[in-house]
Amino acid sequence: MRLPNLFVLPSHDLAIDLGTVNTLVYVSGKGIVLNEPSVVALETRGGIRRVRAIGADAKLMMGKTPENVEAIRPLRGGVIADIEVAEQMIKHFIEKAQGGHGRLPRRPSVAICVPSGSTPVERRAIRQAAQSAGAAKVWIIEESMAAAIGAGMPVTEPIGGMVVDIGGGTTEVAILSLSGLAYSTSVRVGGDKLDDAIAIAIRRKHNLMIGEVTAERIKLQIGTARAPADGRGKVMQAKGRDLVRGVPGEIEISQAEVAEAIAESVNQIIATVLNALENTAPELAADIIEQGIVMTGGGALLSEFDSALSQATGLPVVVAENALFCVAEGAGRALEDTVYRGVLHNA
Ligand SMILES: Nc1ncnc2c1ncn2[C@@H]1O[C@H](COP(=O)(O)OP(=O)(O)OP(=O)(O)O)[C@@H](O)[C@H]1O
Ligand SMILES: [Mg+2]
Repeated sequence: MRLPNLFVLPSHDLAIDLGTVNTLVYVSGKGIVLNEPSVVALETRGGIRRVRAIGADAKLMMGKTPENVEAIRPLRGGVIADIEVAEQMIKHFIEKAQGGHGRLPRRPSVAICVPSGSTPVERRAIRQAAQSAGAAKVWIIEESMAAAIGAGMPVTEPIGGMVVDIGGGTTEVAILSLSGLAYSTSVRVGGDKLDDAIAIAIRRKHNLMIGEVTAERIKLQIGTARAPADGRGKVMQAKGRDLVRGVPGEIEISQAEVAEAIAESVNQIIATVLNALENTAPELAADIIEQGIVMTGGGALLSEFDSALSQATGLPVVVAENALFCVAEGAGRALEDTVYRGVLHNA
């Protein structure tokens, strides 16, 4: 539990982790108040598109919508795929986090996390969305920096640390020291790619077409970064549409099959980390040997991912305790505590 900091005025400033899969909002002085899927359901009537649901309600509709309704994820692969819809989503979450419109004593400052590779156009769209939702000042903070602060790394000190944030759309690898990124790289491989790989493997091997919600469920239940030692490992049932008979069907899938399906994506992430280590200045590399690698993001929770990464790098690896919340927590703390002012950039 976090104790309230008595030296921080209750200003109701907000930090937003605008993720490909989940959006979290942190209110200064309160902590994380909102955690919802980054999904918007759109309805088209008479050629006009309007929002039908946003967040958890919209996710329930995914893959189950009638013809005129579409549940979409406005951020895909770590970038904004649909700026207009993304703006509406950001606005909705900001208003919801504030408990409705117009109750604020003053207009808040808002810090929004962006992937290190985001373009100026994307940053501008994000700023506009926050401003139209009432933000007085918009700060940008790099996702990796926020993740590191949230994981409790000493980012303001002259000590090199490596953070690997595995989200739904991207994996961000960064080496941090003195409130800055000494090295950063991002690869468009994350949880979504693993889900896709599982769906493709099941279609090929079992002639069964499964939806993305089912693919993710399989990953969460039996996914693993390393093939099980004892043959097939755990098994589970998966339902979808039988492509041969054209009717609903069910198959049994094993942990070994899932591990094989996702191996390529897992290896791509590991290769990105190895590449980052090769590009690290010697003094920082020495620090990383001491400190180890910190993993954050939902993807870090994949079973055996930490041990696979540790084996490949020969370094100690830890998964941050609150892996799914690190980015939002870190961005929130950066807003609350002036020691982190250097990590906030003008949008
Ligand atoms: N226990 C788990 N095992 C494996 N994967 C998991 C687990 N829990 C969550 N995930 C995956 O983590 C991903 C979501 O993580 P997170 O919320 O960090 O992403 P995001 O911040 O929305 O994405 P990005 O940072 O790429 O924009 C999803 O793909 C989800 O399936
Ligand atoms: Mg993220």
